[in-house]
Amino acid sequence: MSSRIIPVQPFDYVVFGATGDLTKRKLIPALYHRFMDGQFDEQSRIIGVSRSKLSDAEFQTLVRDSIKSFVEKAYQDDKTTERFVSVCSYVANDVTDESNWGDLGKNLRSDPKIIRAFYLAIAPDLFGPTCEYIQKKKYYRRDARVVIEKPLGHDLASSIAINDEVSKIFKEDQVYRIDHYLGKETVQNLLALRFANILFEPIWNSAHIDHVQITVAESVGAGTRGYYDESGALRDMVQNHIIQLLCLVAMEPPASDDANALRDEKLKVLRSLKPISGQEVSKLTVRGQYRAGSVDGGAVASYQDELPAEKKGSRTETFVAIKAEIENWRWAGVPFYIRTGKRLPSRASEIVIQFRNIPHSIFDHAEGAPRANRLVIRIQPDEGVKLFLMIKDPGPGGMRLREVPLNLSFAQTFTERTPEAYERLLLDVIRGQQSLFMRRDELEAAWTWIDPIREAWNSATDAPQQYMSGTWGPTAAIALIERDGRTWHEDIN
Ligand code: BG6
Repeated sequence: MSSRIIPVQPFDYVVFGATGDLTKRKLIPALYHRFMDGQFDEQSRIIGVSRSKLSDAEFQTLVRDSIKSFVEKAYQDDKTTERFVSVCSYVANDVTDESNWGDLGKNLRSDPKIIRAFYLAIAPDLFGPTCEYIQKKKYYRRDARVVIEKPLGHDLASSIAINDEVSKIFKEDQVYRIDHYLGKETVQNLLALRFANILFEPIWNSAHIDHVQITVAESVGAGTRGYYDESGALRDMVQNHIIQLLCLVAMEPPASDDANALRDEKLKVLRSLKPISGQEVSKLTVRGQYRAGSVDGGAVASYQDELPAEKKGSRTETFVAIKAEIENWRWAGVPFYIRTGKRLPSRASEIVIQFRNIPHSIFDHAEGAPRANRLVIRIQPDEGVKLFLMIKDPGPGGMRLREVPLNLSFAQTFTERTPEAYERLLLDVIRGQQSLFMRRDELEAAWTWIDPIREAWNSATDAPQQYMSGTWGPTAAIALIERDGRTWHEDIN
């Protein structure tokens, strides 16, 4: 792979929540990589802001530690680290306390050619006051960008409230709502696969596709993460990441790769999702919670045992499976089975496009009918694409058919490091490129579909079904698809 490094315009990136987990684990390592690759240099600045009373030097130590802990050893380089650290400075600022806000101004440069971006890695209830002070203190510019990230609400109403707060100050073309799945190379590859090849588009519809499966499996647990119990798998994974994947699979070809052209098409899919509510919810959705079990050869505790005392008895789901349908011409009658969960056997995300059977087989039935083609798009790990085809089993013995994958493994095809999602997204903000960010109407359409499911679960008397850690979720999730005479793709691991 020959990557093209196009340097971006110099910037002032203000990161609110600079001592938090997201900054340490994701944002600093991502910016370090882009700096190392020469996409920006010492003309740019990264300004950390948070409540902790740190000096510039102390924040720079935090930056060095983050690089040591979260950048692969092969890419840790002392000289580059010191150059990178030299662009990082710090402002101690409680965003709700006006008296501290003046200090940020000393770090921001007035040159209009320097792009100004504010990354709000803070709780959503602080978005409103932060945006207001940005304006009040005259740090706002019409070309400044603001970056926000989930949880962007816990339902439609709260999401509207958050967006209203932000949009009092920033216009929609200045708002970058991150869904980090859109920054993943393999997710962007869905666009290339569908729209840069002639092969698939003519058969990408209900006439040729039987159903679609989207699995996002994780082996990690969630009970020790404070936020998770408030959220659950439906809000944490389905409302954003999985729905975005579904949109990229199902959308019509946009007229161009322009951000709004793309997002218009995604929005149409979201608005065509068949509502699931009331009685339908128990038929078309499954929610589970993990019991103790064994994952990756080690014993793990149940979700309940991981929770702090005050949360015991929680009915938060750690697994969801849904049979979704898209009510439009292209997809009528094609189910999209989606599932995601914690403490599943492995970390594995993939999309399976299951094509229909051939209409008539000329081959000897005694040898078994040809299996329908399948396209498996592996999001992570072992990124790649497999197209399962029928071929003749070589050698004598008549015409025996065998299913074999045409296997495109990214690791074998490309030798360069695959950039992390945040690398692309953080610099797209500077470029002013919004394609990989969610527009407000998309977000709200996603909540509109999710809310009735959540409401039905909340008013149900039953708790999520238990599943043993290290298995593929409750048996009801298997029944959900088998009831329709189909099975989950079994090769996933
Ligand atoms: C986050 C969720 O958005 O995505 C986490 O809050 C989840 O619960 C994570 O583990 C998964 O991201 P990735 O990139 O590891 O697949």
